[in-house]
Amino acid sequence: MSIKETLIKDLKEKKARVAVLGLGYVGLPLAVVFAEAGFHVTGIDPDSRKVDSLNKGVSYIPDVKTATVERLVKSGNLTATTDFSVLKEMEAVSICVPTPLRQTGDPDMSFIISATEELAKYMHPGMVVVLQSTTYPGTTREVLLPKLGAEQGLRVGEEWFLAFSPERVDPGREDWTTANTPKVIGGITEACGEVATIWYAGAIKTVYPVSSAEAAEMAKLLENTFRMINIGLVNELAMMCERLGVDVWEVIDAAATKPFGFMKFTPGPGLGGHCIPIDPLYLSWKMKSFNYNARFIELASEINTNMPRYVVSRVMEALNERGKALKGSRVLILGAAYKPDIDDVRESPALDVIGLLQKKGALVEYHDPYIPHIHHETDGWQMDSINDVMESVKNADAVVIITDHKVYDYRAIINSAKFVFDSRNATRPFAKDHENVVRL
Ligand SMILES: NC(=O)c1ccc[n+]([C@@H]2O[C@H](COP(=O)([O-])OP(=O)(O)OC[C@H]3O[C@@H](n4cnc5c(N)ncnc54)[C@H](O)[C@@H]3O)[C@@H](O)[C@H]2O)c1
Repeated sequence: MSIKETLIKDLKEKKARVAVLGLGYVGLPLAVVFAEAGFHVTGIDPDSRKVDSLNKGVSYIPDVKTATVERLVKSGNLTATTDFSVLKEMEAVSICVPTPLRQTGDPDMSFIISATEELAKYMHPGMVVVLQSTTYPGTTREVLLPKLGAEQGLRVGEEWFLAFSPERVDPGREDWTTANTPKVIGGITEACGEVATIWYAGAIKTVYPVSSAEAAEMAKLLENTFRMINIGLVNELAMMCERLGVDVWEVIDAAATKPFGFMKFTPGPGLGGHCIPIDPLYLSWKMKSFNYNARFIELASEINTNMPRYVVSRVMEALNERGKALKGSRVLILGAAYKPDIDDVRESPALDVIGLLQKKGALVEYHDPYIPHIHHETDGWQMDSINDVMESVKNADAVVIITDHKVYDYRAIINSAKFVFDSRNATRPFAKDHENVVRL
C-alpha cells in the first residue's frame, strides 16, 4: 500500500492518532468532536491552565460540557499536553491557533508561524495537516507548505498532506455545532484535499470539498466579509433613520417580511469578537500587495468602527435633553460580551464605549453576568462587574444596553431606570414607546 492508502485506511478505521494544536473556542470543540467519533485525540496548547483543566476532565468553554470532557478523558479518547514532541506519534494534525491583528491593523501571523515551526520538527511520512485558523488567502501554501516537511524532504500530496478548512463555530449556538455545521475543505493538491476530507468526514456530518486551499480560505473570508458589510449597511441605515425620524427597527422588521431576496441584519454598538471585525481586514491587507483596494471592506469597517462613538454621542444628546451633562453623570453599561449569552469580551464594542464615556468624564460602571472583570491592556484600565444590577440601574443617570443577554429583566430595568439607551432593541418587546427609553 502507498503512504496515502495506509493513511486513508487508518483514518477510516479511526486508528490514526489525532492532534489539535490550540485548545480555545475552536480547538476544544473540534478535539471533542473527533474524540466522540472514536479517534484518540491529543490537544496541544502552551497554556498549562487549559491543559491541566482538560486532563482533570473540566471544560473551560461554555459550549463544551464538563461531563463530556470528563467522559472522553476517562475513556482515554481525549488527553492534553503542553509538550509538542508528542506530534512525532501523530498522523492527523489540526491547527486552531489565534489570528488576531497587530496594533497597526496588519495580520498577526506569529501564532500560526510558531505552531507550524513546532510541528515542522516532528513531521514524518503519513501525516495530514489541516489549518483551521482564519487567515488571508494563500497562507496554507505560502506560510505552512515551505516550513512543513521541508527538513525531512517529504513530498506533499504523496508522503504528507496539507489542507485548509475554515472554522464556522458560532459560540453560544446550540442548533449548529462543530459536528453538524457543514465543513469546507480545500487541499494543496487534489490528494491532500481527498485525505483531509476523509479524515473530517469521519467526525463531521457534512464535508464540502473545494478544489484548492485558496478557495477554502477565500470562502471563509466571503462569509465573514458578507456579514461585516451587511452589518455596516444597517448601522448606516440606523444613522440615516435617526436623521429622518424613522424607527430603524420597524423598517428592518418590515423589510424582513419579504420571503426572498432579503436577509435580516440588525444594527448595534459596533462589531465584536474574534472574527467579523478582524477577518475581512486579512483580505484587504492581502489585496494591498496586488495594489487593490478592498473598498467595501474599508467602508464597512469605517462605519462599524465609528459605532461606539455614535452610541456615546447619542447618550450625550439624550442626557442633554434631560438637562444633564455626560460629564459627572453615572452611566451603567449593561452587557460587555460581544454578543448575547456568551463570556467572550474580545473586540467587544463595550470596551470602546466604556473608554469613550470615561474620556468624556462620565462615572462608568458595568454589569455582565458572564464577565466578572475587564482588563483593557492597551488602554490601561480595569473594572469589576457590579454586583447588584437593579440597585445600579436605579442609581444611574443613564443605563446603556450594549449586549442583550437573555438573563436581564428588561421590563424591570426600564421601569426602574431614569433613562435607558438601548443599542440592541432589547426593550422593545416590553415597551414599544417609553419616555425613559431611547433606541439606536
Ligand atoms: N472563536 C470563534 O468563534 C471563531 C469562529 C471561527 C473562526 N475562528 C478562528 O479560529 C482561530 C482560533 O480562534 P479561537 O477563538 O479558538 O482562539 P482562542 O484564543 O480561544 O484559542 C487559541 C488557543 O491557541 C493556543 N495557542 C497559541 N499559540 C499556540 C501554538 N503555537 N501552538 C498551539 N496552541 C497555541 C492558545 O493558548 C489558545 O488556547 C482563529 O483564527 C479565529 O479567527 C474563531
